Amino acid sequence: MKKRILTGITTTGTPHIGNYLGAIKPALELAKNYDESFYFLADYHAIIKNSKNIEVSESVKNVALAWLASGLNPNKSFFYRQSDIPEILELSWILNCVTAKGLMNRSHAYKSATSLNTDDEDKGITMGLFSYPVLMAADILMFNATHVPVGADQIQHIEMTRDIAGRFNHLYKKTFILPEAIIQSSKETVPGIDGQKMSKSYGNIIPLLSSEKQLKTSIAKIITNSLEPGDPKDHSNCTVFALYKYFASKQMIEELKDDYINGIGWGDAKNKLFEIVNKDIEPVRKRYEELLNDKDLINDLLSDGAKKVRPIAKEMIDSIRSSIGINKIS
Ligand code: ADP
Ligand code: TRP
Repeated sequence: MKKRILTGITTTGTPHIGNYLGAIKPALELAKNYDESFYFLADYHAIIKNSKNIEVSESVKNVALAWLASGLNPNKSFFYRQSDIPEILELSWILNCVTAKGLMNRSHAYKSATSLNTDDEDKGITMGLFSYPVLMAADILMFNATHVPVGADQIQHIEMTRDIAGRFNHLYKKTFILPEAIIQSSKETVPGIDGQKMSKSYGNIIPLLSSEKQLKTSIAKIITNSLEPGDPKDHSNCTVFALYKYFASKQMIEELKDDYINGIGWGDAKNKLFEIVNKDIEPVRKRYEELLNDKDLINDLLSDGAKKVRPIAKEMIDSIRSSIGINKIS
């Protein structure tokens, strides 16, 4: 059996260093050990939060550019946009019809949204949010992916996908492979400038696709304490140090530890962080700037991606339609 990895990236906001270290880099690395890799831009997932149209399309562009600039090779992978493959939505409906509502009631995303409500627990909750794991199952099962690299917060969705696939196989015909999750970022999550998890929802990001100047400004904003240069500092509870560790060699980390003991000033520590992050992401930035010059690039790439991927989806959906009795009358 071919080993096929597949992962989706929701197109909301602008990619940051946390996405780069926690998702993009490891997923590209992982692809080397698989026969086929599928990466897609999950724009139908992005509308769940009812973002403005301009934000969704800007994000499709930026997320696509981030993956390409980070080294994704569209000739070796299947790279496409979810909305270009309408068969996924068709499958999503079919899967909705075999999915127990009780299974969706247990979804963490849905439960955490209801837990914020007091009087009416379903206030502000759309069917999109409620059935989001079914769309994700359709993304995965459409291509019979064997392995799905995701962050730890997505484990439940892969378990639900296996449940839904098993139910369909049982009710109709053995059609779907039960996919396995590959959990990324066993490392701790990358902190943002305020020390919490870096996330576009918290407005604390260091953007990946920024100019040198913007990168410097973001790093300068990292919250530290009021210790003066010359005062010994604790590296163990420091965002600057935590970020530095992702980019530096063991020896450099030890050297910075000594600098902390010897009272390095925050300005100098941030400068060291800037230098090392900048060196790491410079090739990404250069490639990003080159890609930006090619105005048609993203549209051309997505249209090529759809041409490669749609026939696979069509074949699958034809076979599923026939299993469920939606086919030519004989
Ligand atoms: P955000 O929290 O900014 O909305 P997403 O939920 O869109 O980010 O995450 C996209 C991918 O990036 C996921 O695989 C997620 O696990 C990873 N990721 C996001 N933030 C971080 C972080 N701070 N550290 C490590 N990985 C992260
Ligand atoms: N829900 C995932 C996230 O928020 C993105 C996603 C959508 C996905 N469809 C997927 C991931 C299919 C893996 C497989 O990160």
